This record gives sequence, structure tokens and C-alpha cells, in this order.
Amino acid sequence: MQLPPDGLNETALFEALGALRQLDLDWRGGRTYAYVYDAGREVEEAGRRAYGEFLFQNALDPTAFPSVLKLENDVVGIGVEHVGGGPEAGGAFTSGGTESIMLAVKAARDHARATKPHITAPEMILPTTAHAAFHKAAAYLGLKVVLADVDPETFAADPVQVAAQISEDTILLVGSAPSYAHGVVDPIKALGELAQEHDLWLHVDACVGGWLLPYYRRLGVEVEPFDFSVPGVTTISLDLHKYAFAPKGASLLLYRDVSLRRFQYFTCTEWTGYSVVNSTVQSSRSGGPLAAAWAVLHRVGDQGYLDLARQTLEGTRKLVAGIESIPGLSVLGRPDFCLVAASSEELSVFHLIDAMARRGFYVQPQPSFRGSPRSVHFSLSPKNSHQVDALVEALREAADEVRGIEPSQLAASVGGMLAGLSPADLQQQFPQLLAMAGIQGDALPKDMAPVHELLDALPRELCKELLTAFVGSMFSPTREAACAGSSA
Ligand SMILES: Cc1ncc(COP(=O)(O)O)c(C=O)c1O
Repeated sequence: MQLPPDGLNETALFEALGALRQLDLDWRGGRTYAYVYDAGREVEEAGRRAYGEFLFQNALDPTAFPSVLKLENDVVGIGVEHVGGGPEAGGAFTSGGTESIMLAVKAARDHARATKPHITAPEMILPTTAHAAFHKAAAYLGLKVVLADVDPETFAADPVQVAAQISEDTILLVGSAPSYAHGVVDPIKALGELAQEHDLWLHVDACVGGWLLPYYRRLGVEVEPFDFSVPGVTTISLDLHKYAFAPKGASLLLYRDVSLRRFQYFTCTEWTGYSVVNSTVQSSRSGGPLAAAWAVLHRVGDQGYLDLARQTLEGTRKLVAGIESIPGLSVLGRPDFCLVAASSEELSVFHLIDAMARRGFYVQPQPSFRGSPRSVHFSLSPKNSHQVDALVEALREAADEVRGIEPSQLAASVGGMLAGLSPADLQQQFPQLLAMAGIQGDALPKDMAPVHELLDALPRELCKELLTAFVGSMFSPTREAACAGSSA
């Protein structure tokens, strides 16, 4: 790829970009049940216009761009109000759930460094359902992850298991409201009691559900308390780019007591340039995502969110009943939110996902992990909730189609061969492995089930090596563009 000698005109430019977008999942069709949170065109347009208008405002310096400062104070204020923060509460706007979580972990770590200096190898306890972003934060920030098994029936964090893992080096407990994989809200009250008893920081990850859950409560759903009304909750992450329907790049990290927020900040005066005071990982950052989030919140308004929540709730109830009516399929746990995991003891769920792709539906594979079996994940949003009848019908047909399919031989043959390999050996065998998995050239195989089965059967460390090598291999300037593997 080379820079064109002369700049392209606008028509050529946007034709080229439009053609690329054709390769992607058709999420506007309402048949994509992951990655995109779609509340319809009006909401999208409010976000798009505000994003464009603030694209070049730089949130790096609130004294130079007071508009961006005001927008952040407004959006944080709305967030604080939403999760029951009092006059001491406050927070910061971040680029997404992962950044909010990383900053919460940094704040907890730096607070522990200041108040418990005898802890030199800090630990955080994660229920196995906590999002991967906590593992990433631990890897970046030098914390040790201690996993706690969840209840095998409900998939909610088990406070007894968490309590059993608390050690002298523990600094942080985590609960989800809800977890991504199963849509289940953890018992935050019990975790709050543990946090208070042991003087620990408790972070509630409400990234995915924190915005709509209060509306679910207003619609009559019993929702366990998960916010600052629960004693012991220190921080809450709350994404606006998921179920508040803002464009990507919008999340909040909120504090019960904003005086702790200074542990999140990074300040530098030891260089020759301008003073740096950053609340987030990024330094220069566009005002676009913040303005878009502000615009979407104000465009939709309280009654609008109540209505959008109702649409997802109705869609979820239909989907859960539909899944339970299909022989061989069942829902894992009892989802408290519009995130559903379906599993099966007799059907190959990975083949089911391929069969759904052939019917034009994108649903997401979830590998097995510590008591949670392989499953199919569905994230419902207002737009795809309207297609749930068709989704259930397709699931019924797909289940009949894959009934009786045996697990593929790939996992058995390649899994055995790989088990004894070191990471260095793996690098060498990688091209051969890709060929065996049916991955040739730049295209993914049409049927991904054998690949998912293989990955699921491998020891976790090896699976990580293989995934890292595979994704790394995709990012090459010589790679041809390929259509979104509708079954990938
Ligand atoms: C519960 C939960 N936490 C954290 C995240 C990470 O958010 P992001 O993808 O915005 O970084 C997600 C993403 O789905 C999530 O569901």
C-alpha cells in the first residue's frame, strides 16, 4: 500500500471507504447479537453530529477547551446521579470499559501503596465471570489475579469463595453488574460487607448493564442493589457506549468519594514541555466521543431510556422462553439483563453458531472455563430485539440441523499434537496448524466450529499463544481484505 501521489477527490475517497464497510457485519439489519448497541437512526444521528462538531477539540487541556470541561462535568454529574452518588461523589470520562477498569485498578493500587505500604505484591480477587479487562489491568499494572469460582448454577459470584481467597496482600475485590457472559448481577451487598470487614477497595463493573439496570427496576424487574446505595462500594465503571447507546469511546469511572480520584491521575513536570495532568491513559484526546455521549444522553432523555429498556426486556424474555423451548438447548443461569448465554449437553454449540451464520444471524461463541460450559452469547439491543421471533425460529432450525453432529476430529488430532509443544515450537508449527484448521490465504474457513473446538480443547496457555500468533498474522500490510467471516 502506498500513499497516492495526488490526494483523492471526495467521491473517490468515500466510495473506497464505503466499499470496505460492505465487508463488515450488517448490524443495521437487526440480526447481529454482539458488538453493536443499536437504538435506531435518530439516536445515531445525534451522536454522529455532535462527534463531528467536537472532533478536533482537544480534551488534553481543560483550560484551553472549557467546552470539553463543561461537557465532562455534565456527563459525570448525570452518571453520579444515575448510580446514587452523594455530594462527595465524582468521577472521570474515559474511552471505554477497559480504560475505566484499568484506571480503577491503578487508583486502588496507588491508594494501597499510600495507605498500606507493607503490601509489596498486591492481589485482586476476581470471580471467574469478571471481564478480561481486569486481567489486562493486572498484567499492565503488576497485580496478581486470584480467581474465585462462581456459583455453578446461577453463575453469580460466590461471597464464600471470594472470602476464602482474601489474604494479607489483597487490595481489591470486584463484582459485576452484570457479567458479560451470562448477564447475571453479582451479590454486591455481600461483597460490600466483605470489603468493609477487610478494609478493601470494591470495584463494581457496571460497564455493560449499569445504565439500563435502574430502568429495568422501574419496569418492575427485581434488580439486586449494585450501586453507591450499597455500603462498601468504592468505584463503579459505567459505559455510555454500550446500553446508553453513545458511539464508541465513552465510559465513566465513578467514585463514592471523589477525593480518591487523585490516585487515578498521572501528573508529570519532569520534562521540558507543557505540564501534563492526565485523568486517563490517553493524553491528547478528541472531544468527539464526549460530545457525542452528551448529545445522546440529552437526545434520548429519561423516558426514552425507559422505553428502550422495555424493548430489550421484552426481547430478552421472548428469547429466554424460545431457547428453553428448543430440545437440547438451555439458558445458563437466570439473566438479570439483556445478555443471554445458551448451552447444550447434546448439541455442538459451535456448529450451531455456524448454522446460525448461514441463516444470516451473528451470535457469539463463548469457550468453556471453570464450570461455565461452551455457550452461545446473545446481546440484545432495541433494534435486534424486534427480530427475536425470527432469531428463535432460526435457532430451532439450526439446532435440528446440527443434532447428531459429532465433535470434529481436528481438536482430538491437533490437540494431542500441540499439548507437548513449547511456545517457541508453536511459532514454527504455526503455518501448518493454520492449514490444518482450514485457514488458507487471508480468508477464514466458512465453518469455524472445528477451530473453536480446537481452541477450547487446548490448555489455556497454549490457546493464548495460538490466538496471539493468529491475530498477529492478520495485521500485515500485504493482507487482502476479506468479508467478515459471518461465522467467525
Ligand atoms: C461487563 C463488562 N466490563 C467491561 C467491558 C469492556 O468494555 P470495552 O469493550 O468498552 O473496553 C465489557 C465489554 O463488553 C463488559 O461487558
